Order: sequence, then C-alpha cells, then structure tokens
Amino acid sequence: MTTKNEPDARDFERRPGLALTELAEDAARCRDCPLWERATQVVFGEGPIDPLYIAVGEQPGDQEDRAGRPFVGPAGRVFDVALEEAGIDRSTVYVTNAVKHFKWQPRGKRRIHDKPNRSEVVACHQWLDAELGALPIDAVVIALGATAGQSLLGPSFRVGKARGADLTIGPRPLVATIHPSAVLRGDDDQRDALRAGLVTDLRRATTLAREDAPPNVVAVPIIEEMSP
Ligand code: URA
Repeated sequence: MTTKNEPDARDFERRPGLALTELAEDAARCRDCPLWERATQVVFGEGPIDPLYIAVGEQPGDQEDRAGRPFVGPAGRVFDVALEEAGIDRSTVYVTNAVKHFKWQPRGKRRIHDKPNRSEVVACHQWLDAELGALPIDAVVIALGATAGQSLLGPSFRVGKARGADLTIGPRPLVATIHPSAVLRGDDDQRDALRAGLVTDLRRATTLAREDAPPNVVAVPIIEEMSP
C-alpha cells in the first residue's frame, strides 16, 4: 500500500517524470518561508525529464507568477534568444529557479521584483536539490546569476569570479553566467556586450554537454505489463 507521498517504485519506472510531478505538487504546499503568502502560486521547474542542460534562475517574475511557469516573461525571452544564438535547442533545457515563489513589493498598481534573502533561498533549496536528484546526473547545470549560484554552491559564490571557471556541482559540470535580466537592466551601450557574454557562456556549456540521443527520449525503459 502506498500513499501519495510514497509512490510505488514501479510508477517511477513507467513514468520517469512522476518524481518531478510529485515534487511540484508538494512544493505547492510549502510554507517554509513567508513568500507563498503573497505569490499567486508556486512556479516549479519545467522541461524534459532527460535534459542536456538544467538552467537555474533566481525566482519567478510577475508574468511567471501569473502563468505558473518559469521564464515566460521578458527575461525568459532574452534567455530563449541567447540559447538559440549559442546553438542550444530549448527543448533540451530544464528550467527552474532557486526560489519558487515570486517576491515583490507594491509600487502603485505594479508588483516590483524584490530580491530573495538568504533565508528564503536556503528554505527553498530543498526543492532545487530534489529536482536535481530527479534529473540526469550528466546534465550541465547553468547558474543564471548570483542567487542561483549561491543556492547551488554557497553564499561566497560570485558571478564575476565563477564565469569561465571549471566548476562542478556533485557529478555535474556547472557553468556560471549572468542572469538574462541583467541584459534588460543594462544601459543601451552595455546591452550588446552583456548579451554577447551570456551567449559565450552558454556556448561553453555546449562543450560540456553529453552528445547523445535526441531530446525528450526517455532513458528509463518502460516496463510492459506481462500478459498472464
Ligand atoms: N527570472 C528568473 O530568475 N526566473 C524566472 O522564471 C523569470 C525571471
């Protein structure tokens, strides 16, 4: 007999994405920091269950909070274009965030992004860690910005120092780069250079990715029911 939180091991064999689905459902009930109170919903990671890349951002923005999906707003569009320029097929990328609820401050009628603090990042780390546990051990982790890097590698992580360095997280290579929103925030004369830097870092990730089957191929064998 299994409960919802103790899935039958055979379910994982039949539906390898089940672990992530169940994690997302559990995360929706998380009350380990106060951010859930003002967010519309949890925004869990999404993408193929056998990604070549796991991209980690900071936290959902206003549009992600409404849609319930990561990287669907302006920063997501910058990221999508940069991926394409770097030669990375978006369908090979699992995207997620260090913090799964939108933190914001009111300004008039607008909800303005507010950076998550260390205790919120630490409280949410359990979900990122669990996602990594459910994804392939040879996927390249891409840390988008300081909050992602600090959640993954600790509070002393600095993007400037980590860029271009040979980093790992457990068995996986880790590529550090700027957050796509830095491109949007940059002055007109900085924007092209920021975008180019992001693309250069993403290209480096492609040199570390496994070369294998096309995306979305389920690596875990499906066990067929045996007829009696
Ligand atoms: N910024 C992030 O870090 N993540 C998102 O999902 C959207 C914007």
